[in-house]
Amino acid sequence: MTRMVKQEQANSMSPFEPGNTAAYAAWRANKLDKYPVGAEGLIVEIADPQQLSDKELSALQAVINKTNVAIYRCTGKAMTKGDVRALGRQMGLVRLDSNLCADEDSITSLQVMDTGRKGGYIPYTNKRLSWHTDGYYNPLDRQVRAIVMHCANPAASGGENMLLDHEILYLHLRDRNPDYISSLMDPACMTIPPNTEDGEEIRGETVGPVFSLDANANLHMRYSARTRNIAWHDDATTHAAVEEITAFLNSDSPFLFRYRLNANEGVISNNVLHNRTAFEEDAAHKRLLYRARYFDRIAPTNVRD
Ligand SMILES: [Fe+2]
Repeated sequence: MTRMVKQEQANSMSPFEPGNTAAYAAWRANKLDKYPVGAEGLIVEIADPQQLSDKELSALQAVINKTNVAIYRCTGKAMTKGDVRALGRQMGLVRLDSNLCADEDSITSLQVMDTGRKGGYIPYTNKRLSWHTDGYYNPLDRQVRAIVMHCANPAASGGENMLLDHEILYLHLRDRNPDYISSLMDPACMTIPPNTEDGEEIRGETVGPVFSLDANANLHMRYSARTRNIAWHDDATTHAAVEEITAFLNSDSPFLFRYRLNANEGVISNNVLHNRTAFEEDAAHKRLLYRARYFDRIAPTNVRD
């Protein structure tokens, strides 16, 4: 069977295909059943990131299978980048994306930088970061399916994250108007202009959908709330859909998780939507996050099985 036929078959079964009303209804009921309220429901304690116990791994899987995101709290040691990588590997995350600013080991140290290339990007300042999924500007064959954000050191104040399962946003939009989904799945929905530095183009334009299905018909999302970074497909339904996204992200919905990472805690997710508040540092509290971006999605079951 060709890959194309396989993909079509997977899509035809997927609840995320706009035409699959019955599959969607079943998926929706299951999704909302016992969905956690509040970020506390996402937390899983782990002792040794190099060797998760079966119980820890199962607990992480269970949370992520429901919400696409978990918060781990490492009680055993101060985690290094190597530990972040080991943790990811046990969850099926292997293929790291080396973006422009990643360190040599492909895991990025996010901290305030005043000069150089990194200083030009908001993640390397103490400013707020608006809602986005990681790597939305990547070429479509290099999409970021999962990320780990590990807090090595929190700021003196601020730097809180909000997290939203993109499947919940999908559900909200589809309930409002199924045409929103069709527009957001349109391959011409969202254009990211090229990235230029000193007049030189370092990344070309990227055109693609907001919502798409991967090879196993899992839902993937590309999004940024930074309007100047995006040209939307110019039709009424797309504009209405984008307005509905903005309204939901700025609402007080109980589905929006809010959490400030402490030292030695981190977020592991199928690249769900997230943002960050501004923060303040002092000499003893310099914020340091390790961020790993993967082309893999988190394995839905224990990879040691
Ligand atoms: Fe991010």
